[in-house]
Amino acid sequence: MVVARVENSPPLHAEISDDELTEIGTILSMWRPINMSVYKDKCMKRRVAIRMRSTRCSDAGEYCNLLRQSPQELDLLQKTLTIHVSQFFRNPSMFEKLRSDVLPGLFGSCKNSGNNRLRIWCLGCAGGEEPFSLAILLREHFSKELRTVQTIIHGTDIDAETITAARRAEYGEERLKDVSAPLMASYFRQNGSRFRLVSEIRDMVTFLQGDITKTSAFEPSNLVVCRNTLIYFTRTDQEKILHGVADILPIGGILVLGKSETLVGDVRRRFESVCPVERIYRKL
Ligand SMILES: C[S@@+](CC[C@H](N)C(=O)[O-])C[C@H]1O[C@@H](n2cnc3c(N)ncnc32)[C@H](O)[C@@H]1O
Repeated sequence: MVVARVENSPPLHAEISDDELTEIGTILSMWRPINMSVYKDKCMKRRVAIRMRSTRCSDAGEYCNLLRQSPQELDLLQKTLTIHVSQFFRNPSMFEKLRSDVLPGLFGSCKNSGNNRLRIWCLGCAGGEEPFSLAILLREHFSKELRTVQTIIHGTDIDAETITAARRAEYGEERLKDVSAPLMASYFRQNGSRFRLVSEIRDMVTFLQGDITKTSAFEPSNLVVCRNTLIYFTRTDQEKILHGVADILPIGGILVLGKSETLVGDVRRRFESVCPVERIYRKL
């Protein structure tokens, strides 16, 4: 039996050379606020290959030409390179730990130091699921503290469209699997097949487009949540980002990473572990 070769069959990521990847990164960074060289090559090649297949480009040269001519393709490539999968209360046990140990400690320090402001920053916040989960948690369990401590939640992502979606705060069921029925009833309003957060929660979070490799532009925060974003960066850049995060945390400030992420290199000296299972660390 003869199997016909599919025309324009997708390039394997192994067929995109390092030089070609660099060229694609250079074109992208000329027009969009993303520096591809900080991400892991293998991951980037796999994702570029997805775009080459969708645009039926048979080699990287053809794809570079397309990128030079098409702002739309620049957007689509950026979107494909940055993965926006998230969910409300992703890893519920981490939110439980924040509720039982971390947030009471942070509010307690605010009270003891006479500082009536608490800042929370979610880096790589995708469609807002994570900062909004924190806002719901605070509303449910810390309403007394919210009356006395001004609590500011920021969500930042590199992708402008994702930030626009986060501001809309409307979600499909797949993002809401870990939201209990009482919380759904209290904080979401159904709109066809989608569910929109009530303004009481929407108004608690401010979204900003930003790059986590440039945290020096961010304001100091008592709690930084940076989950499932570092994994896409090279080890060297993970370390740089983590130093940047350490710089915006005060002593005693808390950092939360994703389940498959950890502190790397020298930055380990700047934190102590609060809960190794949930990847929660305190700045020293
Ligand atoms: C997999 S999502 C994680 C969402 C959420 N933190 C969670 O754990 O559910 C990763 C997010 O990081 C964002 N991202 C990737 N590179 C970034 C960068 N350099 N600066 C800011 N955000 C970035 C992506 O756009 C994407 O929305």
